[in-house]
Amino acid sequence: MKIGVPTEIKDGETRVAMTPNLCRRCVKLGATVMVQKGAGTRAGFLDTEFRKAGAKIVNSAAKVWGDADLVVKVKEPQTAEFKFFRPDLTLFTYLHLAACPDLTAALVKKKVLGIAYESVESRDGYLPLLKPMSHIAGRLSIQTGAYLLQTQNGGSGVLLGGIPGTMPGRVAIVGAGNSGAHACRMAVGMGARVAILDLDARKLEMIDEEYRGGVVTLMANPGNIEMAVKDCDLLIGAVLVPNAKAPTVVTPAMVRTMRPGSVIVDIAIDQGGCVGTIVPTSHREPTYVKHGVVHYAVPNMPALVGRTSTLGLTQATEPYLVHMVSRGIKRALAEHDGLAKGINSQDGKVVNAQVAKALGYR
Ligand SMILES: NC(=O)c1ccc[n+]([C@@H]2O[C@H](COP(=O)([O-])OP(=O)(O)OC[C@H]3O[C@@H](n4cnc5c(N)ncnc54)[C@H](O)[C@@H]3O)[C@@H](O)[C@H]2O)c1
Repeated sequence: MKIGVPTEIKDGETRVAMTPNLCRRCVKLGATVMVQKGAGTRAGFLDTEFRKAGAKIVNSAAKVWGDADLVVKVKEPQTAEFKFFRPDLTLFTYLHLAACPDLTAALVKKKVLGIAYESVESRDGYLPLLKPMSHIAGRLSIQTGAYLLQTQNGGSGVLLGGIPGTMPGRVAIVGAGNSGAHACRMAVGMGARVAILDLDARKLEMIDEEYRGGVVTLMANPGNIEMAVKDCDLLIGAVLVPNAKAPTVVTPAMVRTMRPGSVIVDIAIDQGGCVGTIVPTSHREPTYVKHGVVHYAVPNMPALVGRTSTLGLTQATEPYLVHMVSRGIKRALAEHDGLAKGINSQDGKVVNAQVAKALGYR
């Protein structure tokens, strides 16, 4: 099997889909691995390390894509990469198709077998390839939010932890899953007053147990969301309905009740965002102000810490990649239900029900 690892071209992206160690393992199993020149540099993995691990360093993206049976990536292909799609290509990467109609159409047109990291399921039904990046985005959301709350960055001048004799800042987190729970941990660590909301009572029970009442847990009904949004200095959007477009849980009217200079970090932007006033931003221009509130909605936040993110991502993808290399792609999918759940496009069709529903495919 020929595996291609292109350089990521999404704005500000620093991750790479393979480390030299993972590359060495695939080569030992008989794969040919082609890494685009410089693909790992921003994550601190040099071409010389890949070469030592048995990879071929290839000069152009066209060659990596063109010669590979399987392209392994991090972010969803960008428009400039659509020209590399072809019917015998398998793509293993984040796709987030519900928020990307053009990419979906291109995959369908070119009959690419698209396996989305975010749809792969473990045997007990969780999303093992989304989880590590959600942990990172959750943790980053608080340090990013704390920075944006600083006056010089357009924020209200609130220090999340406060000091003795002053009120700490308030953080509201909507969604208590992987990213929300890790945002919660960071916010509590900084000394903020935290409220977390979810529709799933079990998630709230776990948070309550862990922090022994030190975090306010609230059912995510409109009344509670309205109250938590109005009261907070920093709002984190962290909801997910797997594969679907994120529901709008925070309305523009709620955003208007926030104090000027308050901050919103909508982690769920890669699935369309869960705040009514949110539009995607980029590492180049990460924020904008609407209704006096600073909005941050970068869909590839883990790129801020490319080294940790690459290690976190590849340790999760490794067993799946090794399985595909060992068994061949077709057999690997037939033998592994969880991996097969990752298939979003195949034979010119959208085969994930939520994506199809979100984009109007049959
Ligand atoms: N921006 C980035 O760089 C980045 C990085 C990683 C993950 N993400 C995204 O973050 C989002 C969250 O991912 P996750 O792994 O934390 O998901 P998760 O499934 O672990 O948690 C999502 C939570 O949202 C809750 N939820 C669903 N609908 C809700 C609603 N209407 N109101 C309140 N809660 C609701 C669920 O019960 C669940 O607890 C996803 O869109 C994911 O792709 C973004």
